[in-house]
Amino acid sequence: MTGPKKKLYIKTFGCQMNVADSEQMALALAEDYVLTDRPEEADLFLINTCAIRRKSEEKVRSLLGRLKGLKKRRPELILGVGGCVAQQEGERLLKAVPHLDLVFGTHGIYRLPELVRRAGKERTVDIELSPSFPEPPPRQWQQGQVQALVTIMQGCNNFCTFCVVPYVRGREYSREPEDIEEEVRSFLAAGGREVTLLGQNVNSYGRGLAKPVTFAELVRRLARLPGLERLRFATSHPKDLSQELIAAFGELPALCEHLHLPVQSGSNRILAAMNRRYTRERYLKLVARLRQVRPDLSLSTDLIVGFPGETEQDFEDTLELMREAAFDQSFSFKYSPRPQTRAASFPDQVPEAVKAERLHRVQALQAELTLAAHRRLVGQVKEVLVEGRSKRSPEQLCGRLRTNQVVNFAGPPTLVGRLVMVEIMEAHPHSLKGRWVEELPVR
Ligand code: 5AD
Ligand code: SF4
Repeated sequence: MTGPKKKLYIKTFGCQMNVADSEQMALALAEDYVLTDRPEEADLFLINTCAIRRKSEEKVRSLLGRLKGLKKRRPELILGVGGCVAQQEGERLLKAVPHLDLVFGTHGIYRLPELVRRAGKERTVDIELSPSFPEPPPRQWQQGQVQALVTIMQGCNNFCTFCVVPYVRGREYSREPEDIEEEVRSFLAAGGREVTLLGQNVNSYGRGLAKPVTFAELVRRLARLPGLERLRFATSHPKDLSQELIAAFGELPALCEHLHLPVQSGSNRILAAMNRRYTRERYLKLVARLRQVRPDLSLSTDLIVGFPGETEQDFEDTLELMREAAFDQSFSFKYSPRPQTRAASFPDQVPEAVKAERLHRVQALQAELTLAAHRRLVGQVKEVLVEGRSKRSPEQLCGRLRTNQVVNFAGPPTLVGRLVMVEIMEAHPHSLKGRWVEELPVR
């Protein structure tokens, strides 16, 4: 007997990978549960967690604390924690949080229906990591959805000394290219326009497959699918960025001229201690080649300040590299020691106050570089994919350039989901202001 579906609320922390995983959780549970955006009416409340820095972990603990009241008012509510913190903590989390019913790890997504049933009867933990991943069920695309995240691989084999990912997400595992293509085709058939391919290190995609494929081959195959306007991917490791992929930036119109290429540090000494396996010279050479192939390429990066042993000189090398590479955007973080990682036990941990001061300086420099990049765009007419109404001023629309900058402009709501031409009028620190010029013909 099938009654009305129960309600599922998912709170997602962390990266795009987690956003994609949360979609998979909803899909795995779709037979019994329908998503709600009102946490107070949920029958099942899942928290998808991130363990990359201590701060991300603290956010989860504070939310769990706040949910104690909800669980008290509604004892029949099933409260579950999944993702990287769940994987890392397992049983400990269940012990520490008495009102928690379920802890499931990063490989537990497809076992969720069974795990939730069990958690309704007894408190349950499942943090098994398997060497492979089951192929997910076919996606269900939302009406009007024009952008999709498509996970192409799981896990990471790199063991950067600061990073918890290989421990909580396990070894690299790639999906078959045919399955990925099928997913993208079904999205395009449903009206999709922009696809972002996701993996911890997409550049090593395909190595472990029975018939190995390179990431560049996958990109070529997908970029030619009719209807695909924009193809993006994240995240790339500089040590694995191939000549073949660089060449693809000059050849495939659908491949957006934007690349997120985390450098982490500009000091060779620190890069070696991080086990990144490239030098600043090699990184800058990659940037030069990319710009040769695609002069309008926009680059973004991740930076860590205050890694153990980082001196003022090392840090200044990072600032100099930021200027040389001319990053349009960067995400910068204070080094945060993570359980199990090698760097957590390195000597010469940098004092908190020094990390804070360096972070401030990195962010001030990035603000300058970003604003300069935004100013260069003023006066140009650019293609924008309209994503929705602007958050700050709902009478405005909001979209992104192919180079990933956010543009706000006035226009009718019927433009949402479409490609339009916008003249860039004003440069702001975090966005651009534009004027709608004309609608692009649908290609
Ligand atoms: N401390 C600070 N930042 C970190 N990152 C990963 N691990 C840590 C850590 N222990 C950053 C890196 C990575 C991004 C996703 O998070 O810059 O590229
Ligand atoms: Fe972490 Fe390095 Fe793997 Fe990226 S490549 S997920 S930073 S270990």
